[in-house]
Amino acid sequence: MNAFDQELTRWLAARDAEGMLRARRTVTRRDGVSVGIDGKEYVSFCSNDYLGLATDPAIREAAAQAARDWGGGAGTSRLISGDLAIVRELEDELAAWKGTEAALVFPTGYMANLGVLSALVGREDTIVLDRLAHASLVDGARLSGAKLLVFPHNDVGRLDAVLSTHARGRTIVATESIFSMDGDRAPLRPLVEACERHGALLLVDEAHALGVYGGGRGCVAEEGLTARVPLIIGTLSKALGSQGGFVACARAVVEYLVNNARSFVYTTGITPAAAGGALSAVRLLRADDARIRQLWYNRALLRTALADVPAGGDGPICPVIIGDAARAVALSGGLFDAGWWVPAIRPPTVPQGTARLRITVSAAHTGGQISGMAAVLANLLSH
Ligand SMILES: Cc1ncc(COP(=O)(O)O)c(C=O)c1O
Repeated sequence: MNAFDQELTRWLAARDAEGMLRARRTVTRRDGVSVGIDGKEYVSFCSNDYLGLATDPAIREAAAQAARDWGGGAGTSRLISGDLAIVRELEDELAAWKGTEAALVFPTGYMANLGVLSALVGREDTIVLDRLAHASLVDGARLSGAKLLVFPHNDVGRLDAVLSTHARGRTIVATESIFSMDGDRAPLRPLVEACERHGALLLVDEAHALGVYGGGRGCVAEEGLTARVPLIIGTLSKALGSQGGFVACARAVVEYLVNNARSFVYTTGITPAAAGGALSAVRLLRADDARIRQLWYNRALLRTALADVPAGGDGPICPVIIGDAARAVALSGGLFDAGWWVPAIRPPTVPQGTARLRITVSAAHTGGQISGMAAVLANLLSH
């Protein structure tokens, strides 16, 4: 082992001793919420595949058909020859669904946030983030070089004060509509009003709201605010069961991003299979909301089953705050031993002292799976 390897090995050992080492668990088989790991069967309560579309036969077939029609990969960036008609079709479908003039697809939601923020503001400008905003928004803000300010979670009064006193140049306020690790909801209307008062642009990341709220269209549409939110981010990778991200916005913004968003320009276009799968998922949800209704039904079952457990969250993300990281890991391990896969989320993904179990419910769960997992969790928490 050379000196570099030894240094990294020491770092890994120290993380392990603190109970903070991250490691992969390889899934060898999956169907809906059932997964196989090391020859044993588990029920997953950790996916963001809220509607069970990732393994839905119709979505699988659409993705496979797109691969047959268009090939395995786009071959090059969208600005060279990777701008496949199936991706354009997806963008038109997304814009029509979200109610915006246009949409632009990126290879991931992470890259959408990176590209949009770093293209639209620079050193003379300001980005103001909710304190719990996702890492992709933080990274996009840092990459932009803009002055980076933070307001306390969902505190519009404090945002107002920050905008009055510290903002300079073009200002973007960025938040999530449903927060990824807390599952709670942003006060969108007051946020819109604060941004309008100060001439700031609002970016709302609907990664965890798309396919779930507002008949699938997200919280911005549900609250009738589409025309007042200039930058709406979505991902194809969660409830839509595919892979990719997008921004829904005005056509001029799309064309500006096509010219300036580095995570759009300097990367290969989304795969045909991902585009075809996502396109089919959007069309399916626009035609039939049965899966969304099933998700909310299951979410109600989970709430009832967790009645004695202090679980947060507004929708399918139900965090149970444990505090201590080692205890969260032990509880997750206890559930796993019993066949239920519920992840422990630790710092730095969440703030220090707020390690948690992040339970996500899906339309694909059965009532028996929900009550079974909740009973084991309640038992473990009582010890
Ligand atoms: C709020 C939020 N935004 C963006 C992303 C990134 O999306 P993607 O997984 O498509 O890169 C995620 C999830 O990873 C997220 O939770």
